[in-house]
Amino acid sequence: MGKVTEINHPIVKHKLTQLRNKETKTKNFKDIVKELSTILAYEVTRDLPTEEIEIETPLTKTKQPVLKNKNMVVVPILRAGLGMVEGFTDLLPNLKIGHIGIYRDPETKEAIEYFKKLPDNLNESEVIVVDPMLATGGSAIAAIDILKENTSKPIKLVNIVACPEGIEAIQEAHPDVDIVTAVIDEKLDENKYILPGLGDAGDRIFGTN
Ligand code: PRP
Ligand code: URA
Repeated sequence: MGKVTEINHPIVKHKLTQLRNKETKTKNFKDIVKELSTILAYEVTRDLPTEEIEIETPLTKTKQPVLKNKNMVVVPILRAGLGMVEGFTDLLPNLKIGHIGIYRDPETKEAIEYFKKLPDNLNESEVIVVDPMLATGGSAIAAIDILKENTSKPIKLVNIVACPEGIEAIQEAHPDVDIVTAVIDEKLDENKYILPGLGDAGDRIFGTN
């Protein structure tokens, strides 16, 4: 079964409270999503391999670790996932970015795919799917289904707010996928929104409603 990691850190909790607050305006909301994404990028890359190279400090020669060249692709689920990309590329500027467009049908909450553009040679890369919200899990499952048609390499899912229903759905559909999330909230409401949650992430990032 894929590993589930919830970040337990006072700064993350503080920023989540700002995101949840309905008084937080678009600019601030977007900035906090980016900041949290960088923290999540640290966590999801914790097991990246390193190799030693020789360098000279001002005092001596020494062998020290650097990141091994590794192909990595980040795939935001449009729209809201776009808000997380810069937080990742700030940390890892050489990332390639794929895009998958999926929205939840407002009535049925079913995931509808409307766009796909993935880098060539996806099969040579580790893939990280990013989306601020994991609610029913329908959107993330559909995105991972698409990716698995294009790669057999490991896929990880990074969210800002997840909930038990979404995590269970991913574990059932894609038991090989690790999940890293800033927080696991309580539950879904009758409209399949996360409680306490932060509302509609895409609308709050892009100032729509
Ligand atoms: C939101 C969110 C996820 C999805 C989560 O997207 O960004 O993609 O809902 O819900 P699920 O786990 O039940 O599928 P939305 O459909 O609102 O589209 P948007 O990002 O374009 O606003
Ligand atoms: N999508 C969101 O943006 N928020 C939720 O709470 C659920 C799905």
